Amino acid sequence: KLTVPQIIAAAQSPDAAPLVMVTAYDYPGAQHAQNAGVDLILVGDSLGNVVLGYDSTAPVRLTDIAHHARAARRGAPDTFLITDLPFGTYQTGVQDAMRSAVYLIQETGADAVKMEGSSPEVLEATRTLTRNGVPVMGHVGLLPQTATAQGGMKVQGRDEASAKQVLDAALSVQEAGAFAVVLEAIPARLARVVSERLQIPTIGIGAGPYCKGQVLVTHDLLGVYEGQHKKIAKRYAEVGQISTQAIREYAAEVRGGQFPAKENSFVIKDDVLDKLY
Ligand code: KIV
Ligand code: NA
Repeated sequence: KLTVPQIIAAAQSPDAAPLVMVTAYDYPGAQHAQNAGVDLILVGDSLGNVVLGYDSTAPVRLTDIAHHARAARRGAPDTFLITDLPFGTYQTGVQDAMRSAVYLIQETGADAVKMEGSSPEVLEATRTLTRNGVPVMGHVGLLPQTATAQGGMKVQGRDEASAKQVLDAALSVQEAGAFAVVLEAIPARLARVVSERLQIPTIGIGAGPYCKGQVLVTHDLLGVYEGQHKKIAKRYAEVGQISTQAIREYAAEVRGGQFPAKENSFVIKDDVLDKLY
């Protein structure tokens, strides 16, 4: 399992391979990620969208993350695991942030927590947590928890003021003590500038190839949702299609009497059965 200093070092050595991060929300998902050899697993609040069926991450509760992170941890005991602090669990003061983070770490065995944004409250929480030994990953650019205030799920940092805002946000998150920062939905060349200016690794999603690491929502790369193509994600499989097709075949075989077959059934000796008559 990587350590925080090793993760930071990955950003500083020029020939290090990019860090690989994926999301996981349950035991098998985390097991697949660990067996595939990823560096970092995130139990993201994208849980709300891809597992719980909400249309944003805002309704996700601390107890939801804990429930899913416990399962993910059991599937990937040897991989550095980060849990998202959900909306409303860290912006209301350093005590709340610390309590939320400690709850997740104690309940799930997570190695770190992630917070969105660079407001004074978030920076203060980042400072308090890191000063007290809780590793914090930052998240700047598009902030899904509060995307309504950013004009929706839109690319950030395209004009000069907004680009400067993204760079300043990343710098301030680093200054507050974060060990890495997610850059979401910003132009590739802005992500390059941010990655060059920071000492800590930048982990991109929809942020081009110049980041020190990449993260995808696993359900996007697996193609769990048929027909839902996102520009920022590449589909490495069509798991949704495979899954639907398999269930369709099962249904047809049950209805056609082909399943269960002999090899799926248990036997009983004739003389035992005869005694029932
Ligand atoms: O919740 C999530 O999955 C995330 C990643 C997309 C970075 O925050
Ligand atoms: Na998230």
